[in-house]
Amino acid sequence: MQYHPLVTYPNPILRKKANLVGEITPEIEELISHMKTVMQQHNGIGLAAPQVGAPLQLFIVQEEDEVRAFLNPQILSSSKEQETDTEGCLSIPKLWVEVSRPHAITVSCLTPKGKEISLSLEGFSARVFQHEIDHLNGILIINRIPFWKRWKALRKYKSSS
Ligand code: NI
Repeated sequence: MQYHPLVTYPNPILRKKANLVGEITPEIEELISHMKTVMQQHNGIGLAAPQVGAPLQLFIVQEEDEVRAFLNPQILSSSKEQETDTEGCLSIPKLWVEVSRPHAITVSCLTPKGKEISLSLEGFSARVFQHEIDHLNGILIINRIPFWKRWKALRKYKSSS
């Protein structure tokens, strides 16, 4: 497989729904390690496979001193309580927008070893996971804000890139 260094908006691959990962092959492990490199090069805290041109349900998250990978995630429940915070995205450089999301979620997914796990997350980590899972569904932060704010944000993005 050929991977991109980093795919940026408005590349259409970012709007596609990613496919489930079947078997965890050496190519998948290679993809994960490529994604770590790209995320660290750009000082990111999370990266989804479509952002390197791979339409697969896989993302990585920077945790304290390790990077963890999660496959085929499914959000099982979301809190009614919402929280608004500023988010950026490596695929839309230098754009920061206020995004409202559920404060807490539970997620089930696979580890790169094929183990099924479920996680209860809240606050910042719940936000990071929701942002990355959005990528797997072709949803970007600009799709999470009101249309008039999106128009303004994209005008600013286009004039700076
Ligand atoms: Ni992103």
